[in-house]
Amino acid sequence: MDFRTQAASVDALAGVAADALIVVVAGDALPTNFDKGLRALAADAVKLGDFEFKAGKTLSLLRPAGVKAPRVVFAASGKSTLKAARSAFQASLGQLKGRGAAHAAVVFTGFDVPTEALAEQFVLAAQDASYVYRHTKPSAPAAGKLGKLTLLTVDAEATKAAKAGLARGEAIGAGIELARELANRPGNHATPTFLGQQAQALGKSHGLKVEVLDKKAVEKLGMGSFLSVAQGSDEPLRFIVVRYDGAAKTQAPVVLVGKGITFDSGGISLKPGAGMDEMKFDMGGAASVIGTMRAIAELKPKINVVMLVAACENMPSGHAVKPGDVVTSMSGQTIENLNTDAEGRLVLCDALTYAERFKPAVVVDVATLTGACVIALGGVRSGMYASDDELAGALSAAGEAALDPCWRMPLDEEYEEGLKSNFADVANVAGREGGSVTAAKFLQRFASKYRWGHLDIAGTAWKGGAAKGSTGRPVGLLTHFVLSQVKGAR
Ligand code: BES
Ligand code: MN
Ligand code: ZN
Repeated sequence: MDFRTQAASVDALAGVAADALIVVVAGDALPTNFDKGLRALAADAVKLGDFEFKAGKTLSLLRPAGVKAPRVVFAASGKSTLKAARSAFQASLGQLKGRGAAHAAVVFTGFDVPTEALAEQFVLAAQDASYVYRHTKPSAPAAGKLGKLTLLTVDAEATKAAKAGLARGEAIGAGIELARELANRPGNHATPTFLGQQAQALGKSHGLKVEVLDKKAVEKLGMGSFLSVAQGSDEPLRFIVVRYDGAAKTQAPVVLVGKGITFDSGGISLKPGAGMDEMKFDMGGAASVIGTMRAIAELKPKINVVMLVAACENMPSGHAVKPGDVVTSMSGQTIENLNTDAEGRLVLCDALTYAERFKPAVVVDVATLTGACVIALGGVRSGMYASDDELAGALSAAGEAALDPCWRMPLDEEYEEGLKSNFADVANVAGREGGSVTAAKFLQRFASKYRWGHLDIAGTAWKGGAAKGSTGRPVGLLTHFVLSQVKGAR
């Protein structure tokens, strides 16, 4: 998609040339200095009962008199927040779906939001609406004709901010698209090997350093926990390391770690059959950190970022790890595997130990870790854990700014009680209660050497039902977080 900005005079919008003019409006009226003709059209529609200045309401007009654009869409947001602006704009795009407009010019009016943030969401909403998965379904119909979007800015200062916002939106949008595409691909396509190749390709196209380790290298590192998950599958594992160097070598990096289970059958602790197909999305954490590296590589901030992905399948077989088996992690801690379906933490713990070598400023892992987190927070907010309040604040703020929100969860030591084992330093599961928290407590044992954050994205990484598919979350949150960690950013 082609995104631009164009300066326009607020009282002469009817003269803007485009296939469609979209007016997104907050509050209960258009401002008094707004284009007279357009104001009259909206007022008339309100009078006729065809439109209201209320969230979710839209009005679509064809060739209204006095307007250059052959289509006009009004979309009301009610509130003047960023979130309201995004959903009203999304609704206006819905009005143009399946129609002939190729170029839409868009004006936002009445919003109490920085132009940069508005421009970013303008791009993200349009890209979200235009994404269609077609890798294994080439017959999927195109999203529509709309290929060019112009954000109308009504003062000169706004133009500069809008341009910065468009750039950030396009970079994050590219990252989200990559994450969605990787996660949507079926397990027999998006294998650990494929993820490694995708990382290599990203490195080539975006100038990133990439290392892909195979089983032999992982054995050498002593990642006994990661290896134990992979051993039941015929599909070879991969440990992927991607580096973005945007600052001096001496500067401690941000390390992002992704759970890359390309299919989670549960292993010997086999999952029930219904809905098991959705466990192809169990590499959503990996997809999101790869997507974030793409966004970062495009934005080129002055910071160092390292991405780690532990990728394998979790399968039952004669070679598979069994309940009761004890393995030795890279950290030296022994782990009793009481449930082979709690495999995410077993691959992540070794990645967290590997992260120590970078002497990181902060490590954030991202994982579709627990069904319990879906029960706790649903699909709205990701579960967020942090070893200190400042980090929690930064992750939380990044989520709000990106409209990709998270919610802090606790790490009280009492939650670790259930992880005790008679046969190893730690068990991989506690009871059913507080399942997202006890999983985080397990990970925390391997993250004691640095500031650590953890995002449980089990509820937010994908949608089920008719709209089944990856959301690309939390690429937005992670990109904003990394940008917030640039020295002098705040
Ligand atoms: N990948 C799943 C978590 C999951 C389940 C994500 C459902 C999204 C929807 C994870 O590997 C898993 O199976 N976790 C178990 C842990 C349990 C055995 C302690 C779970 O949540 O049931
Ligand atoms: Mn599992
Ligand atoms: Zn899993």
